[in-house]
Amino acid sequence: MRNLLVTGGAGFIGCNFVELLLERYPDYRVIVFDKLTYAGRPENLARFRGDARFTFVRGDICDTEAVRSTFREHQIDTLVSFAAETHVDRSIMAPDAFIRTDVFGTYVLLEAMREYQLERGLFVSTDEVYGHIEPGHSSVEDDPMKPRSPYAASKAGAEHLIYAYHITYGLPVLVTRGTNNIGPYQYPEKAVPLFVTNAIDDIPLPLYGDGRQMRDYQYVMDHCEGIDVALHHGAVGEAYNIGSGVETENIVMAHAILDLLGKPHSLIRPVADRPGHDRRYSVRTDKIRALGWQPRHDFAAALERTVRWYAANEAWWRPIKSGEYREFYRQQYQSRLGQA
Ligand code: NAD
Ligand code: DAU
Repeated sequence: MRNLLVTGGAGFIGCNFVELLLERYPDYRVIVFDKLTYAGRPENLARFRGDARFTFVRGDICDTEAVRSTFREHQIDTLVSFAAETHVDRSIMAPDAFIRTDVFGTYVLLEAMREYQLERGLFVSTDEVYGHIEPGHSSVEDDPMKPRSPYAASKAGAEHLIYAYHITYGLPVLVTRGTNNIGPYQYPEKAVPLFVTNAIDDIPLPLYGDGRQMRDYQYVMDHCEGIDVALHHGAVGEAYNIGSGVETENIVMAHAILDLLGKPHSLIRPVADRPGHDRRYSVRTDKIRALGWQPRHDFAAALERTVRWYAANEAWWRPIKSGEYREFYRQQYQSRLGQA
């Protein structure tokens, strides 16, 4: 393992993972391949620019020639793939890009892996592939996939292809299934950074439905460390859940954000629910823990670090919230909130 291609490295988890790789592995070369969609931010990579081990290539994982030439020119031996359309609400509004990138793009990467005989490929998936989980159960990796949103279905479709390529062609691939990440550089369409940045500006926090949906909010670096452990020690053909094991209701998360910022709870605004909203996700993480991983942040610590980062890094998120984001926000929230 020496020349690693990190697709989607300009996004939230990807850029945190690049940071981890460059810190931990002095001998690795890291080539980020990213289309720079609205979620891919060149500024997320600015801190790596002076590092000779880091290279950025702008490209689309659906573009077979761009992928092949990057594999060839950089003598890629290992793939870690984050590139995806990732926001559930956008997948409900416009599923097309999700099917294209998350399913077809994965197929293009698998074909390139086959052609250039990579040593290993890790594809970052999600606990959303399991669908809504009834109380009393926590998903294990052998549970059936029952995705319920276009996003989750596209990720599950990708996973089926990955497994099929392992069985059919013997490709050395594996997947991780992470729970909700929070932390630095998350695009403020996702609930936590949306709520934090709205609260800083004294704007209502749009809480879907009754706010009693449960998520396992884990710190992004804990997730990245789990991906690292799976990449180096996981078995090919396998899937690994990664999560904190702590479930938190969204309404509790919203109150905690407001408390950390010293803002009034009256900023919480219950709004129309997300169609098909999965009420609960919950995973068991025995399998990744058996490889030596454990999270280093509990929910309170993860949320506090996240809130502090957004409070200290307005220069990162303010330009985002004044760009493409405004139109997205209008479409997504105008009728819900009864305002622009
Ligand atoms: P993100 O939306 O912040 O970033 C996605 C990145 O992929 C961006 O840099 C974007 O430009 C890039 N990208 C999108 N389409 C592309 C294409 N066609 N070609 C090349 N690059 C493309 O996403 P994230 O939250 O960092 O998620 C990263 C991965 O982790 C995704 O695969 C996602 O499904 C998975 N995941 C996310 C979470 C979470 O809570 N955010 C949890 C579990 C799993
Ligand atoms: O579980 C892992 C998944 O977590 C990842 O695979 C996805 O890429 C990531 O987006 C995330 O999906 P969620 O749909 O759980 O995340 P989101 O931040 O959009 O929503 C978190 C919860 O908050 C969810 O129950 C919906 C709710 N919510 C969300 C938004 C955007 C609100 O109540 N109001 C909102 O405005």
